[in-house]
Amino acid sequence: MRSSRHFRRPGEVAITVDGRLVHGFPGESLATLLLAAGLDVFRIGAEGKPRGLYCNMGSCSECMVDLVLEDGRRRPMRACLVTIGDAMVVERRAGSDG
Ligand code: FES
Repeated sequence: MRSSRHFRRPGEVAITVDGRLVHGFPGESLATLLLAAGLDVFRIGAEGKPRGLYCNMGSCSECMVDLVLEDGRRRPMRACLVTIGDAMVVERRAGSDG
């Protein structure tokens, strides 16, 4: 849940996560947006176990997701290090080890 008591937030941005439109605020990390949307599983590891935010500083790779580029290629990214932008397309990963 986002705190809203002491902050004046800029207008929302919308990104697509697994085909679903999710709203966040400029400057937020992708990890923050996913958690605020109730999406705490960022990928499924090779052993079939759910993985999510762990270090929140780019060290562990537990938060790997795919950024889908305009040409359809996928770029693996650490959700905790990515600042969201309008119209981003993200897919959570299945069956990967980072
Ligand atoms: S949570 Fe560890 S790299 Fe993102």
